[in-house]
Amino acid sequence: MTDILARPTQLTVDLPLQVTPSASPVDAVRRAQILANPGFGQHFTDHMLSITWKRGEGWHDAQLGPFAPLQLHPSAAVLHYSQTIFEGLKAFNLDDGGLAAFRPDANAARFARSAARLAMPGLPEDAFVAAVEALVSIDRAWVPSGGDQSLYLRPFMFATEAFLGVRPAHEYLCLFIASPSASYFPQGVKPVTVWLSEDYIRAAPGGCGAAKTGGNYAASLLAQEQAAAEGCDQVVWLDSVERSAVEEMGGMNLFFVFRDGDQVELVTPELTGTLLAGITRDALITLAGEHGYEVSERRITVTEWRERAAAGSLTEVFACGTAAVITPIGKVRSTGGDFTIAEGDPGPITTALREELLAIQHGTVADRHGWIHRIG
Ligand code: PLP
Ligand code: COI
Repeated sequence: MTDILARPTQLTVDLPLQVTPSASPVDAVRRAQILANPGFGQHFTDHMLSITWKRGEGWHDAQLGPFAPLQLHPSAAVLHYSQTIFEGLKAFNLDDGGLAAFRPDANAARFARSAARLAMPGLPEDAFVAAVEALVSIDRAWVPSGGDQSLYLRPFMFATEAFLGVRPAHEYLCLFIASPSASYFPQGVKPVTVWLSEDYIRAAPGGCGAAKTGGNYAASLLAQEQAAAEGCDQVVWLDSVERSAVEEMGGMNLFFVFRDGDQVELVTPELTGTLLAGITRDALITLAGEHGYEVSERRITVTEWRERAAAGSLTEVFACGTAAVITPIGKVRSTGGDFTIAEGDPGPITTALREELLAIQHGTVADRHGWIHRIG
Protein backbone atom coordinates (compact mmCIF):
# COMPACT_ATOMS: atom_id res chain seq x y z
CA MET A 1 0.00 0.00 0.00
CA THR A 2 2.87 2.35 0.85
CA ASP A 3 4.48 1.64 -2.56
CA ILE A 4 1.54 2.87 -4.51
CA LEU A 5 1.16 5.96 -2.39
CA ALA A 6 4.83 6.77 -2.89
CA ARG A 7 4.57 6.43 -6.68
CA PRO A 8 3.20 9.13 -8.99
CA THR A 9 -0.51 8.50 -9.05
CA GLN A 10 -1.22 8.74 -12.76
CA LEU A 11 -2.61 6.00 -14.98
CA THR A 12 -1.43 7.90 -18.05
CA VAL A 13 -0.22 11.46 -18.55
CA ASP A 14 -3.83 12.54 -19.06
CA LEU A 15 -5.42 10.37 -16.40
CA PRO A 16 -4.64 11.04 -12.74
CA LEU A 17 -5.41 8.21 -10.30
CA GLN A 18 -7.04 9.05 -6.99
CA VAL A 19 -5.95 6.46 -4.40
CA THR A 20 -8.08 5.84 -1.29
CA PRO A 21 -6.76 2.84 0.65
CA SER A 22 -9.43 0.69 2.27
CA ALA A 23 -10.09 1.65 5.89
CA SER A 24 -11.25 -1.91 6.66
CA PRO A 25 -9.07 -4.42 4.79
CA VAL A 26 -9.58 -8.12 5.47
CA ASP A 27 -7.41 -9.02 8.46
CA ALA A 28 -4.22 -11.02 7.94
CA VAL A 29 -5.54 -14.19 9.61
CA ARG A 30 -8.67 -14.34 7.44
CA ARG A 31 -6.65 -13.48 4.33
CA ALA A 32 -4.24 -16.36 5.07
CA GLN A 33 -7.23 -18.71 5.42
CA ILE A 34 -8.57 -17.61 2.04
CA LEU A 35 -5.17 -17.89 0.36
CA ALA A 36 -4.73 -21.41 1.74
CA ASN A 37 -7.71 -22.58 -0.31
CA PRO A 38 -8.92 -19.83 -2.63
CA GLY A 39 -10.98 -21.87 -5.12
CA PHE A 40 -11.80 -19.88 -8.27
CA GLY A 41 -13.51 -16.48 -8.40
CA GLN A 42 -15.06 -16.65 -4.95
CA HIS A 43 -12.95 -14.20 -2.95
CA PHE A 44 -11.94 -10.66 -3.78
CA THR A 45 -9.16 -8.39 -2.63
CA ASP A 46 -9.48 -5.19 -0.57
CA HIS A 47 -9.47 -2.79 -3.52
CA MET A 48 -10.86 -2.13 -6.98
CA LEU A 49 -10.00 0.38 -9.65
CA SER A 50 -12.63 2.28 -11.61
CA ILE A 51 -12.48 4.67 -14.56
CA THR A 52 -15.45 6.52 -16.02
CA TRP A 53 -16.10 7.48 -19.63
CA LYS A 54 -18.62 10.05 -20.76
CA ARG A 55 -19.33 11.34 -24.24
CA GLY A 56 -17.68 14.74 -24.60
CA GLU A 57 -15.39 14.15 -21.57
CA GLY A 58 -13.65 10.89 -22.49
CA TRP A 59 -11.92 8.84 -19.78
CA HIS A 60 -11.80 10.55 -16.39
CA ASP A 61 -12.24 10.04 -12.65
CA ALA A 62 -9.83 7.11 -12.20
CA GLN A 63 -10.16 5.83 -8.64
CA LEU A 64 -8.32 3.09 -6.76
CA GLY A 65 -10.40 2.54 -3.66
CA PRO A 66 -12.05 0.00 -1.37
CA PHE A 67 -13.75 -3.01 -2.99
CA ALA A 68 -17.47 -2.25 -2.72
CA PRO A 69 -20.86 -2.95 -4.35
CA LEU A 70 -21.98 -0.65 -7.15
CA GLN A 71 -25.05 1.50 -7.54
CA LEU A 72 -26.65 1.29 -10.96
CA HIS A 73 -29.68 3.03 -12.43
CA PRO A 74 -32.37 0.44 -13.29
CA SER A 75 -32.38 1.69 -16.87
CA ALA A 76 -28.58 1.43 -17.25
CA ALA A 77 -28.07 0.28 -20.84
CA VAL A 78 -25.99 -2.77 -19.90
CA LEU A 79 -28.94 -4.30 -18.02
CA HIS A 80 -31.08 -4.17 -21.16
CA TYR A 81 -28.85 -4.38 -24.21
CA SER A 82 -25.73 -6.08 -22.81
CA GLN A 83 -23.09 -3.59 -23.84
CA THR A 84 -20.37 -5.17 -21.74
CA ILE A 85 -16.90 -6.64 -22.22
CA PHE A 86 -14.34 -8.26 -19.93
CA GLU A 87 -10.83 -9.65 -19.72
CA GLY A 88 -9.09 -12.29 -17.63
CA LEU A 89 -5.38 -12.30 -16.76
CA LYS A 90 -3.20 -13.39 -13.90
CA ALA A 91 -0.54 -11.99 -11.57
CA PHE A 92 2.03 -14.24 -9.92
CA ASN A 93 4.63 -14.17 -7.18
CA LEU A 94 7.89 -14.91 -8.97
CA ASP A 95 10.45 -17.32 -7.63
CA ASP A 96 12.94 -14.46 -7.12
CA GLY A 97 10.52 -12.63 -4.81
CA GLY A 98 9.20 -10.31 -7.54
CA LEU A 99 5.65 -9.84 -8.67
CA ALA A 100 4.44 -9.95 -12.27
CA ALA A 101 1.42 -10.05 -14.55
CA PHE A 102 1.40 -12.36 -17.58
CA ARG A 103 1.10 -10.49 -20.90
CA PRO A 104 -1.14 -7.62 -19.70
CA ASP A 105 -0.37 -5.76 -22.95
CA ALA A 106 -2.03 -8.57 -24.92
CA ASN A 107 -5.15 -8.38 -22.75
CA ALA A 108 -5.16 -4.59 -23.14
CA ALA A 109 -5.12 -4.97 -26.92
CA ARG A 110 -7.93 -7.56 -26.90
CA PHE A 111 -9.98 -5.37 -24.52
CA ALA A 112 -9.72 -2.57 -27.08
CA ARG A 113 -10.77 -4.93 -29.90
CA SER A 114 -13.74 -6.18 -27.88
CA ALA A 115 -14.74 -2.57 -27.13
CA ALA A 116 -14.65 -1.69 -30.83
CA ARG A 117 -16.94 -4.64 -31.70
CA LEU A 118 -19.46 -3.59 -29.03
CA ALA A 119 -19.36 0.07 -30.17
CA MET A 120 -17.78 1.05 -26.85
CA PRO A 121 -14.92 3.50 -26.25
CA GLY A 122 -11.47 1.88 -26.19
CA LEU A 123 -9.54 2.20 -22.95
CA PRO A 124 -6.00 3.33 -23.90
CA GLU A 125 -3.79 0.25 -23.67
CA ASP A 126 -1.23 1.98 -21.46
CA ALA A 127 -4.02 2.91 -19.01
CA PHE A 128 -5.13 -0.75 -18.92
CA VAL A 129 -1.60 -1.93 -18.07
CA ALA A 130 -1.12 0.85 -15.50
CA ALA A 131 -4.45 -0.08 -13.88
CA VAL A 132 -3.30 -3.72 -13.58
CA GLU A 133 -0.02 -2.54 -12.01
CA ALA A 134 -1.79 -0.24 -9.54
CA LEU A 135 -4.33 -2.83 -8.37
CA VAL A 136 -1.81 -5.68 -8.07
CA SER A 137 0.59 -3.38 -6.28
CA ILE A 138 -1.87 -2.21 -3.63
CA ASP A 139 -3.24 -5.74 -3.11
CA ARG A 140 0.10 -7.58 -3.38
CA ALA A 141 -0.57 -9.34 -0.06
CA TRP A 142 -3.40 -11.16 -1.87
CA VAL A 143 -1.20 -12.84 -4.48
CA PRO A 144 -1.03 -16.54 -3.55
CA SER A 145 2.20 -18.49 -3.96
CA GLY A 146 1.05 -22.08 -4.56
CA GLY A 147 1.99 -23.91 -7.76
CA ASP A 148 -1.40 -23.64 -9.43
CA GLN A 149 -2.37 -20.38 -7.73
CA SER A 150 -2.41 -16.76 -8.86
CA LEU A 151 -4.21 -13.49 -8.47
CA TYR A 152 -6.85 -13.60 -11.23
CA LEU A 153 -7.58 -10.12 -12.54
CA ARG A 154 -10.91 -9.29 -14.08
CA PRO A 155 -11.04 -5.97 -15.98
CA PHE A 156 -14.51 -5.20 -17.34
CA MET A 157 -16.47 -2.35 -18.83
CA PHE A 158 -20.18 -1.76 -19.24
CA ALA A 159 -22.71 0.86 -20.33
CA THR A 160 -24.05 2.83 -17.37
CA GLU A 161 -26.09 5.43 -19.21
CA ALA A 162 -29.69 5.59 -17.94
CA PHE A 163 -31.52 5.44 -21.26
CA LEU A 164 -33.72 2.83 -22.91
CA GLY A 165 -33.07 3.78 -26.55
CA VAL A 166 -31.09 1.25 -28.56
CA ARG A 167 -27.82 2.94 -29.54
CA PRO A 168 -24.24 2.93 -28.20
CA ALA A 169 -24.44 4.37 -24.68
CA HIS A 170 -22.91 7.73 -23.85
CA GLU A 171 -21.56 6.65 -20.44
CA TYR A 172 -19.46 3.68 -19.33
CA LEU A 173 -17.73 2.38 -16.24
CA CYS A 174 -14.52 0.36 -16.50
CA LEU A 175 -13.57 -1.64 -13.41
CA PHE A 176 -10.62 -3.79 -12.42
CA ILE A 177 -11.18 -6.34 -9.64
CA ALA A 178 -8.91 -9.15 -8.41
CA SER A 179 -9.56 -12.59 -7.01
CA PRO A 180 -6.98 -14.95 -5.48
CA SER A 181 -7.51 -18.20 -7.34
CA ALA A 182 -6.43 -21.81 -7.67
CA SER A 183 -7.38 -24.30 -10.42
CA TYR A 184 -10.44 -23.38 -12.47
CA PHE A 185 -11.49 -27.02 -12.58
CA PRO A 186 -11.89 -28.41 -9.06
CA GLN A 187 -10.42 -31.77 -10.15
CA GLY A 188 -7.11 -30.09 -11.20
CA VAL A 189 -5.45 -31.54 -14.33
CA LYS A 190 -7.58 -34.67 -14.60
CA PRO A 191 -8.73 -35.08 -18.24
CA VAL A 192 -12.23 -33.77 -18.94
CA THR A 193 -15.02 -35.36 -20.94
CA VAL A 194 -16.56 -33.07 -23.54
CA TRP A 195 -19.93 -32.88 -25.28
CA LEU A 196 -20.04 -31.82 -28.94
CA SER A 197 -22.84 -29.29 -29.11
CA GLU A 198 -25.05 -29.84 -32.15
CA ASP A 199 -28.21 -28.13 -30.87
CA TYR A 200 -26.59 -24.84 -29.88
CA ILE A 201 -23.86 -22.62 -31.31
CA ARG A 202 -21.60 -20.08 -29.65
CA ALA A 203 -20.97 -17.64 -32.47
CA ALA A 204 -21.74 -17.13 -36.14
CA PRO A 205 -19.83 -15.29 -38.88
CA GLY A 206 -20.28 -11.55 -38.45
CA GLY A 207 -21.29 -12.00 -34.79
CA CYS A 208 -19.38 -11.34 -31.57
CA GLY A 209 -17.41 -14.59 -31.21
CA ALA A 210 -14.03 -12.85 -31.36
CA ALA A 211 -15.04 -10.37 -28.64
CA LYS A 212 -14.95 -11.14 -24.93
CA THR A 213 -18.49 -10.03 -24.22
CA GLY A 214 -20.92 -11.32 -21.61
CA GLY A 215 -23.56 -12.35 -24.13
CA ASN A 216 -21.30 -15.10 -25.50
CA TYR A 217 -21.14 -16.65 -22.06
CA ALA A 218 -24.89 -16.22 -21.39
CA ALA A 219 -25.56 -18.00 -24.69
CA SER A 220 -23.27 -20.85 -23.64
CA LEU A 221 -25.01 -21.77 -20.39
CA LEU A 222 -27.82 -23.91 -21.78
CA ALA A 223 -25.37 -25.90 -23.91
CA GLN A 224 -23.15 -26.34 -20.86
CA GLU A 225 -26.18 -27.64 -18.93
CA GLN A 226 -26.90 -30.06 -21.76
CA ALA A 227 -23.28 -31.22 -21.63
CA ALA A 228 -23.58 -31.80 -17.87
CA ALA A 229 -26.84 -33.71 -18.38
CA GLU A 230 -24.95 -35.95 -20.83
CA GLY A 231 -22.37 -36.64 -18.12
CA CYS A 232 -19.75 -34.27 -19.61
CA ASP A 233 -17.58 -31.62 -17.96
CA GLN A 234 -17.53 -29.13 -20.81
CA VAL A 235 -19.16 -28.25 -24.10
CA VAL A 236 -17.23 -28.13 -27.39
CA TRP A 237 -18.50 -25.60 -29.94
CA LEU A 238 -18.79 -26.43 -33.61
CA ASP A 239 -19.04 -23.95 -36.49
CA SER A 240 -22.48 -22.46 -36.89
CA VAL A 241 -22.87 -23.14 -40.62
CA GLU A 242 -22.06 -26.83 -41.14
CA ARG A 243 -21.69 -27.96 -37.51
CA SER A 244 -18.62 -29.89 -38.58
CA ALA A 245 -15.53 -27.79 -37.76
CA VAL A 246 -14.36 -27.69 -34.15
CA GLU A 247 -14.05 -24.18 -32.69
CA GLU A 248 -13.56 -23.93 -28.91
CA MET A 249 -14.28 -25.65 -25.61
CA GLY A 250 -16.35 -23.58 -23.14
CA GLY A 251 -14.07 -20.65 -22.31
CA MET A 252 -10.91 -22.20 -23.75
CA ASN A 253 -9.13 -22.78 -27.08
CA LEU A 254 -8.25 -26.26 -28.34
CA PHE A 255 -5.09 -28.04 -29.49
CA PHE A 256 -4.81 -31.43 -31.21
CA VAL A 257 -1.52 -33.36 -31.09
CA PHE A 258 -0.77 -35.67 -34.03
CA ARG A 259 2.20 -38.02 -34.13
CA ASP A 260 3.78 -39.80 -37.05
CA GLY A 261 6.92 -41.55 -35.81
CA ASP A 262 9.14 -38.78 -34.43
CA GLN A 263 7.16 -36.06 -36.19
CA VAL A 264 4.79 -34.08 -33.95
CA GLU A 265 2.17 -31.73 -35.33
CA LEU A 266 0.00 -29.48 -33.17
CA VAL A 267 -3.20 -28.25 -34.78
CA THR A 268 -5.37 -25.49 -33.37
CA PRO A 269 -8.54 -24.22 -35.04
CA GLU A 270 -7.83 -21.15 -37.15
CA LEU A 271 -9.14 -17.77 -36.03
CA THR A 272 -12.08 -17.36 -38.38
CA GLY A 273 -13.68 -14.45 -36.51
CA THR A 274 -16.02 -16.71 -34.54
CA LEU A 275 -13.35 -17.80 -32.02
CA LEU A 276 -11.73 -15.87 -29.22
CA ALA A 277 -8.04 -15.26 -29.96
CA GLY A 278 -6.67 -16.70 -26.73
CA ILE A 279 -3.47 -15.31 -25.28
CA THR A 280 -2.59 -18.75 -23.89
CA ARG A 281 -3.20 -20.18 -27.38
CA ASP A 282 -0.80 -17.62 -28.82
CA ALA A 283 1.86 -18.41 -26.17
CA LEU A 284 1.56 -22.16 -26.80
CA ILE A 285 1.93 -21.73 -30.57
CA THR A 286 5.27 -20.05 -29.82
CA LEU A 287 6.41 -22.62 -27.24
CA ALA A 288 5.41 -25.59 -29.40
CA GLY A 289 7.35 -24.14 -32.35
CA GLU A 290 10.42 -23.83 -30.14
CA HIS A 291 10.15 -27.54 -29.33
CA GLY A 292 10.44 -28.27 -33.03
CA TYR A 293 6.81 -29.25 -33.42
CA GLU A 294 4.99 -28.28 -36.56
CA VAL A 295 2.12 -25.97 -35.58
CA SER A 296 -0.86 -25.49 -37.88
CA GLU A 297 -3.74 -23.08 -37.47
CA ARG A 298 -6.33 -24.67 -39.67
CA ARG A 299 -9.85 -26.06 -39.93
CA ILE A 300 -10.25 -29.38 -38.10
CA THR A 301 -13.51 -31.33 -38.28
CA VAL A 302 -15.21 -33.69 -35.87
CA THR A 303 -14.77 -36.42 -38.49
CA GLU A 304 -10.99 -35.91 -38.55
CA TRP A 305 -10.93 -35.85 -34.71
CA ARG A 306 -12.89 -39.11 -34.50
CA GLU A 307 -11.09 -40.94 -37.33
CA ARG A 308 -7.56 -39.98 -36.34
CA ALA A 309 -8.25 -40.76 -32.66
CA ALA A 310 -9.44 -44.22 -33.75
CA ALA A 311 -6.41 -44.68 -36.00
CA GLY A 312 -4.06 -43.72 -33.15
CA SER A 313 -2.34 -40.81 -34.97
CA LEU A 314 -4.17 -38.27 -32.78
CA THR A 315 -2.45 -38.86 -29.47
CA GLU A 316 -3.48 -35.89 -27.31
CA VAL A 317 -6.09 -33.15 -27.20
CA PHE A 318 -6.06 -30.30 -24.72
CA ALA A 319 -7.82 -27.03 -24.03
CA CYS A 320 -6.06 -23.84 -22.93
CA GLY A 321 -6.98 -20.54 -21.38
CA THR A 322 -5.96 -18.12 -18.66
CA ALA A 323 -8.22 -19.46 -15.93
CA ALA A 324 -7.70 -23.17 -16.58
CA VAL A 325 -4.13 -23.03 -18.06
CA ILE A 326 -4.00 -26.37 -19.93
CA THR A 327 -6.63 -29.05 -19.44
CA PRO A 328 -6.40 -32.45 -21.16
CA ILE A 329 -9.44 -33.88 -22.94
CA GLY A 330 -9.85 -37.60 -22.42
CA LYS A 331 -13.22 -38.49 -23.84
CA VAL A 332 -15.66 -37.09 -26.40
CA ARG A 333 -19.43 -37.65 -26.41
CA SER A 334 -21.98 -36.68 -29.05
CA THR A 335 -25.20 -37.88 -30.63
CA GLY A 336 -22.95 -39.71 -33.09
CA GLY A 337 -21.34 -41.83 -30.32
CA ASP A 338 -18.43 -41.63 -27.89
CA PHE A 339 -14.71 -41.97 -28.40
CA THR A 340 -11.56 -41.58 -26.32
CA ILE A 341 -8.22 -40.00 -27.13
CA ALA A 342 -5.35 -42.43 -26.55
CA GLU A 343 -6.01 -44.03 -23.13
CA GLY A 344 -7.89 -40.98 -21.83
CA ASP A 345 -4.85 -39.91 -19.73
CA PRO A 346 -2.98 -36.56 -19.89
CA GLY A 347 -0.38 -36.94 -22.65
CA PRO A 348 3.33 -36.09 -22.39
CA ILE A 349 3.18 -33.04 -24.68
CA THR A 350 0.15 -31.64 -22.83
CA THR A 351 1.92 -32.14 -19.51
CA ALA A 352 5.25 -30.69 -20.70
CA LEU A 353 3.67 -27.57 -22.25
CA ARG A 354 1.60 -27.01 -19.10
CA GLU A 355 4.67 -27.26 -16.87
CA GLU A 356 6.70 -24.99 -19.14
CA LEU A 357 3.99 -22.31 -19.23
CA LEU A 358 3.57 -22.40 -15.44
CA ALA A 359 7.36 -22.24 -14.99
CA ILE A 360 7.54 -19.12 -17.18
CA GLN A 361 4.62 -17.55 -15.31
CA HIS A 362 6.22 -18.25 -11.92
CA GLY A 363 9.67 -17.14 -13.08
CA THR A 364 11.36 -20.50 -12.58
CA VAL A 365 12.54 -20.54 -16.21
CA ALA A 366 13.77 -17.58 -18.21
CA ASP A 367 11.19 -15.37 -19.89
CA ARG A 368 12.53 -15.41 -23.45
CA HIS A 369 9.53 -13.63 -24.96
CA GLY A 370 8.90 -10.59 -22.78
CA TRP A 371 5.67 -12.11 -21.43
CA ILE A 372 6.47 -11.40 -17.79
CA HIS A 373 5.48 -7.86 -16.86
CA ARG A 374 7.16 -7.04 -13.55
CA ILE A 375 5.25 -4.94 -11.07
CA GLY A 376 6.82 -2.85 -8.33
N1 PLP B 1 -12.04 -18.88 -25.63
C1 PLP B 1 -12.96 -18.33 -24.84
C2 PLP B 1 -14.38 -18.33 -25.27
C3 PLP B 1 -12.59 -17.75 -23.59
O1 PLP B 1 -13.49 -17.22 -22.78
C4 PLP B 1 -11.23 -17.78 -23.23
C5 PLP B 1 -10.81 -17.21 -21.94
O2 PLP B 1 -10.36 -16.14 -21.82
C6 PLP B 1 -10.30 -18.36 -24.10
C7 PLP B 1 -10.74 -18.91 -25.30
C8 PLP B 1 -8.84 -18.40 -23.79
O3 PLP B 1 -8.28 -17.11 -23.85
P1 PLP B 1 -7.04 -16.70 -22.98
O4 PLP B 1 -6.00 -17.71 -23.23
O5 PLP B 1 -6.68 -15.34 -23.47
O6 PLP B 1 -7.49 -16.69 -21.57
C1 COI C 1 -10.39 -16.87 -18.61
O1 COI C 1 -9.77 -17.90 -18.82
O2 COI C 1 -9.86 -15.86 -18.15
C2 COI C 1 -11.80 -16.79 -18.90
O3 COI C 1 -12.25 -15.71 -19.08
C3 COI C 1 -12.57 -18.04 -18.99
C4 COI C 1 -13.76 -18.05 -18.08
C5 COI C 1 -13.42 -17.93 -16.63
C6 COI C 1 -14.80 -17.07 -18.51
